[in-house]
Amino acid sequence: MTGFEDLTDRVALVTGATGGIGRVVARRLGGRGATVVVVGRSRERGQAAVDEIERAGGEGAFVCADLATTDAVRGLADAFRERYDRLDVLVHNAACSHDDRRLTDDGYEKTLAVNHLAPYLLTHELLDLLRASAPARVVSTSSTVHRRGEIDVDDLHLESGYDALDAYARSKLANLLFTIELAARLDGTGVTANAVHPGFVPGSGLYRDASLPVRAATAVAARLPFVGTSVEDAADGLVRLAAASEVAEVNGVYFEGCERADPDPRVHDDQLRERLWKASADFVGVDPAWP
Ligand SMILES: NC(=O)c1ccc[n+]([C@@H]2O[C@H](COP(=O)([O-])OP(=O)(O)OC[C@H]3O[C@@H](n4cnc5c(N)ncnc54)[C@H](OP(=O)(O)O)[C@@H]3O)[C@@H](O)[C@H]2O)c1
Repeated sequence: MTGFEDLTDRVALVTGATGGIGRVVARRLGGRGATVVVVGRSRERGQAAVDEIERAGGEGAFVCADLATTDAVRGLADAFRERYDRLDVLVHNAACSHDDRRLTDDGYEKTLAVNHLAPYLLTHELLDLLRASAPARVVSTSSTVHRRGEIDVDDLHLESGYDALDAYARSKLANLLFTIELAARLDGTGVTANAVHPGFVPGSGLYRDASLPVRAATAVAARLPFVGTSVEDAADGLVRLAAASEVAEVNGVYFEGCERADPDPRVHDDQLRERLWKASADFVGVDPAWP
């Protein structure tokens, strides 16, 4: 049976906690006594998530941030640092998928910006707090679909052509490349980094901006009891990585649900990880030599 740490006096930040899987993760961490900072764009859903955390016994706070731009990510980090002097659990869970190619105000392809560049920059901005609070954990929500992702580091904004599923799969591969590289760079610091595929959750909000056929298929799947996972069950792997004692020292591992799994072999390509790390640093304007 899984044993969980007592999160009283611990602080967690969960992006994408206004809905879907992240909202359940935030509520459950609150139920273990944590102070949970909920991040998302919807104030109404953010307040509802905070209410759920407090009903579960934790303390909640909402920070409204659209993670599509580097300014917003830096603003979130500033707002967090103003209010909290520790960070024990950082969960990168927010993600989007769009049918058409969209550019952010920074001029970056949006799926890459929200799903990969935001976690990269937010970790950079909050790493001092994580290190000062160690043992601390960084958990990223990836997906088994990372296996079909292709990364061309010279065309990260997909100027040569766009397909929604390819862009999403690539961002989930980027989550894993980032996690494994971060874990290696943080080895021995007391801050761990791991990633998890939560399961296929057709009933979450992830598919709302997908193409009509994908929306139709997921709407049907969501009604079939034997297809996919509920948001409650999908949260299990994330909550375990964020708070279970048995994985406190696990670092640089990919899980599918609660089971260790082999990621795509490209995740172990040091040169690819290094190139993505450097390109990401360049896009968000930080020195790639961190941490
Ligand atoms: N659903 C699945 O089948 C599935 C499968 C594998 C992996 N995953 C992964 O699981 C994670 C959670 O997905 P989900 O299924 O729970 O999706 P969801 O219901 O759409 O939730 C996504 C969350 O991200 C937030 N978000 C989206 N864009 C944002 C932005 N620009 N800035 C800030 N927050 C933003 C949303 O909040 P606001 O709307 O308030 O901004 C929401 O809280 C994602 O990383 C996804 O890739 C999902």
